[in-house]
Amino acid sequence: MTDLNAVPARKPARPHFSSGPCAKPPGYSPAKLATECLGRSHRAKIGKLRLGYAIDLMREVLQLPDTHRIGIVPGSDTGAFEMAMWTMLGARGVTTLAWESFGEGWVTDAVKQLKLDPTVIRADYGQLPDLTQVDWSTDVLFTWNGTTSGVRVPNADWIAADREGLSFADATSAVFAYDIDWSKIDVATFSWQKVLGGEGGHGVLILGPRAVERLETYTPAWPLPKVFRLVSKGKLTEGIFRGETINTPSMLAVEDAIFALEWAKGLGGLEGLKARSDANAAALGKIVAERDWLGHLAIEEASRSKTSVCLTVEGADADFIKAFAALLEKHDAAYDVAGYRDAPAGLRIWCGATVDTQDIEDLGPWLDWAYATVKAG
Ligand SMILES: Cc1ncc(COP(=O)(O)O)c(C=O)c1O
Repeated sequence: MTDLNAVPARKPARPHFSSGPCAKPPGYSPAKLATECLGRSHRAKIGKLRLGYAIDLMREVLQLPDTHRIGIVPGSDTGAFEMAMWTMLGARGVTTLAWESFGEGWVTDAVKQLKLDPTVIRADYGQLPDLTQVDWSTDVLFTWNGTTSGVRVPNADWIAADREGLSFADATSAVFAYDIDWSKIDVATFSWQKVLGGEGGHGVLILGPRAVERLETYTPAWPLPKVFRLVSKGKLTEGIFRGETINTPSMLAVEDAIFALEWAKGLGGLEGLKARSDANAAALGKIVAERDWLGHLAIEEASRSKTSVCLTVEGADADFIKAFAALLEKHDAAYDVAGYRDAPAGLRIWCGATVDTQDIEDLGPWLDWAYATVKAG
């Protein structure tokens, strides 16, 4: 029996388990950020240098091949993904995959805003749809790691190498945590506040050669706002991929991302980041396995997220989870661990690289205590 009067002796040192914005890198302090470029034009030499450096670091840490361009765009991950949808879709049929809230958001965009009549392939929370059903003569939209269900694609094997359509991956909770076969990806997007623990604000857009070809040969029927325009006089605006942003970026957010990327590089880059998030997910998996009242929302282990891990709690409804999360927050033991509002009631614990494994381990006894306390009413 858990003694309700005795809170666990040890607290997670950094109780930051939010699935976005996520924990800052260990050792982070705003005082450590470079500030020379602040208060200057982002088009001055120093601004361009820092934007270009952030792009180079992202390429290096992601192990992105030279075939793919990478640029900083407005509007966070949503901005980057919608920019890709609005500029490239409509040239051929479209398939949208959805197994949680964010994938469902791209379905809504395709159906209600762009009025594209896509083929929609869905699965319930906790499951992946049958990926073998996908018709690769169409453009295909999917979320690599569904942040609100904790279900991800296990790999890129299901993406046809000889596809005629383009693959669009919302990879915001996936990059820097999994191996991505870039030869299978025509468009990918993410934002800095997830696995890097950066600041919100900007999106990152990755384009493979076939996406560039689409942009240069196809003009959508609908109007494009300036912040979505990637092409000028029929040619890709290459400057965007060198740090000449479409509009004014937050150089503070850029410096913050540089801090995180330098930290990542110091860990050994992608391998170091993956090792940290794998260890976190394993530590949380052990906590779940040892408790019969906790379970994984993602049924199959092969498609279970190693970043946004979503858990079921026996007998819990939305009010129970609210009380549970509030109790942990009150004790500074865990912040922001309630599942997403549209997902089945449960917990969501971020296991990305910026979280320390010891903090996940220290969370276990707090989950027991909070569960027993809320259950006792
Ligand atoms: C899979 C996924 N897509 C899109 C978003 C929206 O991201 P942003 O707020 O960066 O636009 C999120 C945010 O959590 C997400 O997890």
